[in-house]
Amino acid sequence: MADLDQEAAAILRANDRGGYTVPTAGLYPYQWNWDSAFAALGFAEFDLDRAWRELETLAEGAWANGMWPNILYRVDDPDYFPGPTVWHAGEAIPSSGVSQPPVAATVARALYERDPALGKARLAALFPKLLAWRDWFHRDREDGAGAILVTHPWESGRDNSPDWDAAMANVQVADIGPYQRRDTGHVDQAMRPTKEDYDRYLTLVAWGREAAWETGRITAEGPFAVADPTMTFILMRSHGDLAALAKTLGENEAAARLEADLDRAIAAARSLWSDDLQAYAARDERTGAFADGITSAALLAWYAGLRDPDHEEALLATLHALFDAAPLALPSFDPRHPKFDAKRDWRGPVWAIVNWMVACGLHEAGHEAEATRLRRDTRRLIEGAGFYEYFDSRDGSGAGGPDFTWTAAIWLAWASPSKEEEWN
Ligand code: GLC
Repeated sequence: MADLDQEAAAILRANDRGGYTVPTAGLYPYQWNWDSAFAALGFAEFDLDRAWRELETLAEGAWANGMWPNILYRVDDPDYFPGPTVWHAGEAIPSSGVSQPPVAATVARALYERDPALGKARLAALFPKLLAWRDWFHRDREDGAGAILVTHPWESGRDNSPDWDAAMANVQVADIGPYQRRDTGHVDQAMRPTKEDYDRYLTLVAWGREAAWETGRITAEGPFAVADPTMTFILMRSHGDLAALAKTLGENEAAARLEADLDRAIAAARSLWSDDLQAYAARDERTGAFADGITSAALLAWYAGLRDPDHEEALLATLHALFDAAPLALPSFDPRHPKFDAKRDWRGPVWAIVNWMVACGLHEAGHEAEATRLRRDTRRLIEGAGFYEYFDSRDGSGAGGPDFTWTAAIWLAWASPSKEEEWN
């Protein structure tokens, strides 16, 4: 193993809390949902048993209604806010009250295919929970067209993306009382969401808590509901992966149901196309308005498996425009837009996990040059700055938390030169 491969594996080991991995010590001391899915992808490179364990511990937090929450609070760590007592949610394990993009289904397939003999029984145990989660999205989070609504920016995984600005501006701050943030004690305030954001994040948590986390009602009546390309595309991909796994397990009824739903998922994904942006975009369910800037989530269409002849060329042109505007790709938000902020989480920086998903889709769709560019840039960023949470797309510096689990995982699974053959 090359040095950086060893370093990446050491980060996963160091962030391991015994069956589950924290995203980074200090800033994020709990188990996060899509972080764990990516962690499993990294562990699979050197310890497949441990990789399965990561998904299994994540699944332990699933609610009776099928939802897998975005944070599992297995311990109470005063160094993080908001903790379990703010949410008042969770069943088997105290948790948040919102979900996160279901990358886990896709990762389960990858783990299974690496070693079917090892994976079969574990997959069989996990599958019903993955399916129930997917069914929950369809029951409690769809808009009229079938696109997936997020009821809190944290649910999307892209916490402070400009995609939520307009809808968040309509949230009246209420019921929050005084509170003390902890994130800004770990990293520079300039790399984190603002106080105005936080007041509204907590207002949404208070609303959900008062609604006793009835997730369907929160979607229908809560102060925030936005159709999200991240959720819609990642769920759409997981459809195909779950259908393949269902067949493997002989779950024919589930496989048929998933396949039948695919047409609706395709139409739903298409409903997020914005002619103004020439890209897929978030749309506020309450006002019908599209977001006014291009985010990296738009480029997940290929990852979803969407092949839309009406928009394929335009989307590729949009991707190239972002490549041209950012020395290091893929910026999470359009650098040409006035709201671009090179260091503030989802308002500009590059995220290795997004690069991996977008590149997988590009690769599968035959856009090799673009996929290679993303892989090359991800490698450069990590080689130059280390395993940061995210990176400045202009100068390549690392930002957010250091020694980050998912950045290490993406290195091991994809960006490392040791994976060259597999990806070329
Ligand atoms: C931030 C990110 C979110 C991630 C979490 C833990 O909140 O926006 O996507 O899951 O950190 O890494």
